[in-house]
Amino acid sequence: MCGIVGYVGKRNSQDVLIEGLKKLEYRGYDSAGVAVYTEQGLEVKKSQGRLAILESKLGEAPLRGTIGIGHTRWATHGKPSDVNSHPHTDNSQKFSVVHNGIIENYIALKEELAAKGHVFVSETDTEVISHLIASLYDGDIVKAVQQAVKRMTGAFALGVLTEYEPDKLVAVRLASPLIIGVGEGENFIGSDIPAILEYTRNVYILNDGEMALLTREGVELMTIEGNFISREIFHVDWDIITAEKAGFDHFMMKEIHEQPKAYRDTMGSRIDASGRKVVLNEVKLTAEQLRDVNQIHIVACGTAYHAGLIGKNVIERLARIPVETDVASEYRYRSPIITKNTLVIVVSQSGETADTLAALREAKRNGARVLAITNVVGSSVAREADDVIVTWAGPEIAVASTKAYTSQLIAFYLFGLYLAQTLGTQDEAYIAEVIDAIKLLPEQVEYILGQAEAVKQVAEQVATHEDLFFIGRGMDYAVALEGSLKLKEISYIHSEAYAAGELKHGTLALIEDGIPVIALATQHDLFEKTVSNIKEVKARGAYVFGIHSAGEDELKKSVDQTLEIPKTLPLLTPALSVVPLQLLAYYASLARGNDVDKPRNLAKSVTVE
Ligand code: F6R
Repeated sequence: MCGIVGYVGKRNSQDVLIEGLKKLEYRGYDSAGVAVYTEQGLEVKKSQGRLAILESKLGEAPLRGTIGIGHTRWATHGKPSDVNSHPHTDNSQKFSVVHNGIIENYIALKEELAAKGHVFVSETDTEVISHLIASLYDGDIVKAVQQAVKRMTGAFALGVLTEYEPDKLVAVRLASPLIIGVGEGENFIGSDIPAILEYTRNVYILNDGEMALLTREGVELMTIEGNFISREIFHVDWDIITAEKAGFDHFMMKEIHEQPKAYRDTMGSRIDASGRKVVLNEVKLTAEQLRDVNQIHIVACGTAYHAGLIGKNVIERLARIPVETDVASEYRYRSPIITKNTLVIVVSQSGETADTLAALREAKRNGARVLAITNVVGSSVAREADDVIVTWAGPEIAVASTKAYTSQLIAFYLFGLYLAQTLGTQDEAYIAEVIDAIKLLPEQVEYILGQAEAVKQVAEQVATHEDLFFIGRGMDYAVALEGSLKLKEISYIHSEAYAAGELKHGTLALIEDGIPVIALATQHDLFEKTVSNIKEVKARGAYVFGIHSAGEDELKKSVDQTLEIPKTLPLLTPALSVVPLQLLAYYASLARGNDVDKPRNLAKSVTVE
C-alpha cells in the first residue's frame, strides 16, 4: 500500500510530485507529504488527510527545488497523523525517505539505533530506515542504502534523498512495486506508471532486489548487492486520457461505462476469424500439459476472488476439471494439496496484491504451473507466473473494482472455452454458440447502462437502510457476493450475500418488515427454486428488487420492483447481472454523500499481507 514518487530534473519538483501523487492516491490517502532539496537544504512538508490539504499548504508556502520525493499513505504502522506521514527523516534532518511496504524487523532495528542515541518521533517502521541509512552513511548514499537494505527484512519500495549529495535520488525495490521513468535531463520514480505518464512514456520496471541511482544525467540500475544491470526500456503506449475522468463525476462511473470496451478489448484477437475458436497465443501450456492437469486452484482476493468463483463454474462446466477456489490470504497457510498436475490460476487486477503474490510463489514452490489473469502488464504477478492472460480493461483508478472484474469474467470464459476445445469436452457447435453470445455482451451491457435511472431510484431507497441482503443461486450467488462487497465498500451499508436456498437455515430470522433484499434470478434452470426463496422473504415483509433475464418476467408477480437484463446463455449472465449491482452501489454511495472513488479505510492496491 501507499504510493511513492520521486523527481530529479529541471522542473519545480513540488509540482511534479503533487501531480504524481494525485495519480497514486488510489493506493492510500490518509496522509501525504513531500521532501524537496531547497536553498535551505532538505525540507519536508507533510500532513494527515487528503492530498488536497498538503497541496494547499504547499500553495501557501512552496518548496522550491528540482529534486524531491513524495508519498501518499495508507497506514500500517501507526495511525494516520502528521508525524506518522512520510517522508521520514533522521535526527540530523539530512536524510529523507519515502516507503511503501512493511519493515518486519523494525522494532529490533529501532532498539539498536535508540541505544546509539537516535531519537524517534513517529510510530512508523519507515522512520527507522532514515535513521539506519544516516547511521551507515560514509560519503556514498548508494552504499549506505545498500547496507541498510541488507539489515531490513520485509517488503519495501523506497525513495531516498540526502542533503549531502543533493543531485542523487536512490530507489530500491524489494517486493513492493516501483518503476523508473526516463526523461531528457530529468528522471522519475513511481509506484505505478500513471504517476509519471504525463512526463515520459519510457520506463524501467524494477525487479525485486534491484535498485537505481537517478540523477539529471541518467539512471543507473543495479542489484542491491551493487552489480550493475542493463535493461531494455519499456515503452508505455496507453494514453494518459484513459486515466482521467472523461466527463464523468467519478472514476467508478467512468469505469462502469468502459465495460463494453473492456469486454471487446479483452476478447480482442483471441477469437479467430471464423468465430468458432478461441486463440490464446500468450498461453504457452501445451495441449499435452493441459491434458495432464487434474485439478485447478483459483486463488485471489476480494473482487478478483469473486471473479474466481464464476471462473470455477465456467471451467467445471466447460472443461469438466475439478476446481477449488481460495482467498489468497488463506491459501498459502492451509497447506493446500498441490502437485505438478495442479494448475493454479491467480487473478489480480493490480498484479501486486501481496497475498496473491505469496500464493503464486507458494504454488510454484510446490511444483504447480501458474496462470495469471491480470490487468497490469509488467506487474509482479504477470512476471512471476508461467502464463499470463491480460485483461485489457485499461487502468482502473476507482478503489471499487468494476471493469477489471468483468474483464476477468471474459478472461475466464475464454480460458474455459480454450480448455474445452483443447480437451475435446465440448463440441465445436456449442463452443461457437458461446463465442457468439460473448460477442453480444458489450452491447447488452450498454442496454443495461441505459437503465441506470431505474437502478438509481432503488439505490436511493436502499441508502436509507442500514442492512440489506443479496440472494441468488448458483452463479447468481457468486454475483450476489460481489454486489454485496461493492455496496459495503463504498456506501458503508451493511449487507450480506446468501445462497438463496440457505436463508431458511438461519439468516431468515433477520428478515423483517421493509428490509431490502436484492434477488438475482437469472439462471433459467434455477428460476423456480429462486422464486420460492424470494417468496419466503416476501412473506416476512422484505422489499424485494429482483433482477431477471428477458423472457422471465413472471418474477414481477413475486417482487416489488424488477430490472430485466438481456437474454444470454446462463453461463454468461454474471457479465450482465453484475452491472446493475455496480450502479446500485455507486448511487447508494452518492446518496449517502460518500467519496465514491476513495472509500474510507481502503486502498486500491493492497501490497501488505
Ligand atoms: C473491491 C476490490 C478489492 C480487490 C482486491 C484484490 O472492489 O477492488 O477487493 O479486488 O483487493 O485486488 P487485485 O485484483 O489488485 O489483486
